Amino acid sequence: MRHRFHALCPYFAMFPESFAEYWIKRLTKPNETVLDPFSGRGTTALTALLCGRNAISSDVNDVAVCLTKAKTTPPSLGRLKARLSQLRGDFEPQTWSGLTREADEFFQHAYAPATLGQLLYLRETLKWKRSRVDNMISALALGSLHGESQSSTRYLSNQMPRTISTKPRYSVKFWKDRKLVAPERDAFRLLTEMAKFRYESPLPRGESTILHTDMRNLPRVIDPVTVKSIRCAVTSPPYLNVTSFEEDQWLRLWFLGGLTFPKKGIMSRDDRHGTADNYWSFIGDMWRSLGAVMAEDSHVVIRIGSRRISPDLLKRGLTGCGQFSGRKVKLVSSKVTEIKRRQTDAFRPGTKGCVVELDCHFRFAD
Ligand SMILES: C[S@@+](CC[C@H](N)C(=O)[O-])C[C@H]1O[C@@H](n2cnc3c(N)ncnc32)[C@H](O)[C@@H]1O
Repeated sequence: MRHRFHALCPYFAMFPESFAEYWIKRLTKPNETVLDPFSGRGTTALTALLCGRNAISSDVNDVAVCLTKAKTTPPSLGRLKARLSQLRGDFEPQTWSGLTREADEFFQHAYAPATLGQLLYLRETLKWKRSRVDNMISALALGSLHGESQSSTRYLSNQMPRTISTKPRYSVKFWKDRKLVAPERDAFRLLTEMAKFRYESPLPRGESTILHTDMRNLPRVIDPVTVKSIRCAVTSPPYLNVTSFEEDQWLRLWFLGGLTFPKKGIMSRDDRHGTADNYWSFIGDMWRSLGAVMAEDSHVVIRIGSRRISPDLLKRGLTGCGQFSGRKVKLVSSKVTEIKRRQTDAFRPGTKGCVVELDCHFRFAD
């Protein structure tokens, strides 16, 4: 079920829509609700709506929340185009030229001056948390903020990977060593083109609730009536010591109002799990939340990975932590997949990223 919203913006450690679609269709009926406590780019939620189900998602990361909202509660194309032309009309380049000149070295090399002025203006003006239209424009901007601009006109930045934002010092050295100069791009024109392209697919329908919160809060924020309708969770928690979603997405987080440099530990102390002990206690908390919010006869599908421990240990850890749900949890099936094309190969070739993934299907069998 290819929908143009799926590829709105890449996300590190994302799973493909085929994974979500397979399990949603297999385990739920139309109008039932599918949960993803670690929403990321919102694939489970969008797929649920496209399959005629409803969706509930949570994530601590602003990028994840912005993308999931954009994909599952989109404004009409008419409102989107009107807002884009209003933004273009209100933009006064000279107001932003001073700030452009004062920007850190990274930004001076990452964007052409005129593009940077537009981005600074959009960052300041768009109220992505309050307005669905502004949220969609922000999501489109996130998808074009950085990428392989030498081979594609879809990206606003100097040459960068599109999945993660590389660190400032590394990026500046990379550009200087190769004498790479940021392309001259008109952000308003690009965003309008991208909006038209993404809206070629019909808009998803159905109810989507997006919670900007730690998944531990789900039992407090999901009401008991809704709980009865959550038949299935399809999700992928952070992998053991593989990435920091905060640090590796720092430039997108900056665009949404965050810091001008990479930092971790602001949104979630759990984002990167350096030790197995911390990791399993986090996974225990995930089970505790799932146990509290899933319907009586329901299913949980989890994709998980690691570069340090074997799939067998991973399976035992994940299954063993099921006891923290306070319910009877049965492992129905599991499958180990070798990752052939790792996302890290594009920007950290030869590094020891995640090489295998484990998919587990559990059932609450109380
Ligand atoms: C492996 S990614 C999910 C990727 C997603 N399945 C996709 O396809 O894009 C894990 C997500 O968990 C989020 N996360 C980390 N700690 C969290 C917490 N305590 N509560 C909710 N979300 C959390 C991260 O921000 C990240 O978006």
